[in-house]
Amino acid sequence: MAKNMKGEDKDMGKVAIYPGSFDPITYGHIDIIERGLEIFDKVIVAIAENEEKRSLFSVEERLRMVKSCFKDTSNVIVDSFKGLLVNYVGKTNAKVILRGLRATSDFEYEFHMASMNRSLNTQLDTLFMMTSKDYFFVSSRTIKEVARLGGAVEGLVPDLVVRRLKEKFKLPVPKKRRIGWDD
Ligand code: PNS
Repeated sequence: MAKNMKGEDKDMGKVAIYPGSFDPITYGHIDIIERGLEIFDKVIVAIAENEEKRSLFSVEERLRMVKSCFKDTSNVIVDSFKGLLVNYVGKTNAKVILRGLRATSDFEYEFHMASMNRSLNTQLDTLFMMTSKDYFFVSSRTIKEVARLGGAVEGLVPDLVVRRLKEKFKLPVPKKRRIGWDD
């Protein structure tokens, strides 16, 4: 296999890890993944399994929803991880962590996280992408709150997520054929 000047395998392509809770995935996340694919050959969506953080959807449910969104995109890999992100990244050939930045309020948290990850692994960089103007106000947390209170989240999350949210909050699901988790 061809090597670059540092003696690394050239043919592996550029890989980024896009970590997050994805509880649930939103169009804001999807926008970052799609734009990430313009820069990287492969994006690994890494869903954090954090036992201390109460999530609405189980890790299996989150995996299935994200996989379903990218079922036709072979260069998006969907996986989950437990423990430190840097340890998970070390098991892949990614050198970059991809994160979306919404507004100034995200900055401090993201800056601390990127600095800590860089201190844990000096080979690792975090690349930030500004969220598109259409989604800068979208977060999984507000999506859950609006959905729980019966507000419309259509257009902000994929349809399959809209249906899953309605099921979780025991709200009427539009009449449609009985769907599985994957569609
Ligand atoms: O979507 P989120 O909840 O903002 O994602 C945060 C996430 C999952 C990327 C972050 O909490 C994380 O990397 N968790 C794994 C544990 C870890 O490595 N912590 C040290 C980084 S400060």
